[in-house]
Amino acid sequence: MKTIEVRASRNYSVLVGEGLLAEAGERIRAAAGGVRACIVTDDNVEPLYAKKVEDSLQGAGYQTIRFIIPHGEASKSPESYISLLRYLAMNRLTRTDVLVALGGGVVGDLTGFAAATYLRGIPFVQLATTVLAAVDSSVGGKTAIDLPEGKNLVGAFYQPHLVLCDTTTFATLPKQTVQDGFAEIIKYGMLGNPELLEMLQTDVRERMEEIISICVQMKRDIVAEDEFDHGKRQLLNFGHTVGHAIEALSGYQTSHGRAVAAGMCIVTQAAVRRGLCKEETLALLREICKKFELPQTSAYTFSQMYAIMTTDKKRAGNRIHLIVPNDSGNCEIRAMDIEELKSFFA
Ligand code: NAD
Ligand code: GLY
Repeated sequence: MKTIEVRASRNYSVLVGEGLLAEAGERIRAAAGGVRACIVTDDNVEPLYAKKVEDSLQGAGYQTIRFIIPHGEASKSPESYISLLRYLAMNRLTRTDVLVALGGGVVGDLTGFAAATYLRGIPFVQLATTVLAAVDSSVGGKTAIDLPEGKNLVGAFYQPHLVLCDTTTFATLPKQTVQDGFAEIIKYGMLGNPELLEMLQTDVRERMEEIISICVQMKRDIVAEDEFDHGKRQLLNFGHTVGHAIEALSGYQTSHGRAVAAGMCIVTQAAVRRGLCKEETLALLREICKKFELPQTSAYTFSQMYAIMTTDKKRAGNRIHLIVPNDSGNCEIRAMDIEELKSFFA
């Protein structure tokens, strides 16, 4: 098992290893205390892992309740959010109780936002069961729900009390969901970790604990410097400006990971054209995306994507921050106005 300590507005541990769900109760008690625990999960994860977590919580002295959402991005909605808040209120959860997000990024983002806002803040822990949640969404305290107008438009920075990633849960993931998680892992490699990119070209199955820990450490270091996303943290958005446009244009039928992979390739290709980044970097990125069966292009035209990219929530006035790979094998934040954004991709 690996332990990574996060230093932010709340300090907490991220544990990565096998069999952690069975130990969740004692570990949650030590990190968050409380009397009652509400497990929030989705209808795919619930039959697989909720009982194990519930038994562990009860073994540690918690009274437990469960709230189950339908799986998928559509559950990161104002309707699910209000239903969850009302469920907590009906069950009289107090500030000394705890929310337990058991699942992927959808469950984690929704539960985290409910935890940030119910009673103006209640402890919550993340039990990540997807590769994407393990390397990205469970760490760093970004919580959110979507609006019909766009993704993650309502949210809060709210750090969990603990993150557990039980790598045995990956065994039940659909292949495509594992591949989605690797898109975010490739992102960390492209942010300046050539060893990680090398590792991704080997057999990764036996190295998941190591790979996840490397990504979490990278994210931990970025969050420690810029928890509230004013500067360096924006690097974590590599591939996301284009990726979010692809997700939106597909009506959220294209998964986050697939959209990010295509977004990273599209931005890197444009950077090569502008002479900002080496051809070899693009070739390596494409090779690794191919290995994980991730897309390298998008079915949409540039003008379709541009229309959505310019509504990016990180746009400030006329300026947008695009994350662009450079010649030194990492990425940098380039501020450009929306006209420059158009010519960057031309
Ligand atoms: P997800 O939560 O929808 O999970 C993917 C699918 O896998 C779902 O159908 C789920 O039911 C199923 N599943 C989860 N764990 C399983 C398991 N162990 N076995 C079998 N099935 C399982 O998707 P995701 O890719 O984990 O997360 C995507 C979400 O994360 C998006 O909403 C994205 O915006 C968000 N995100 C947030 C951050 C952040 O910093 N907060 C970062 C990146 C992504
Ligand atoms: N996933 C982007 C971030 O946490 O900032």
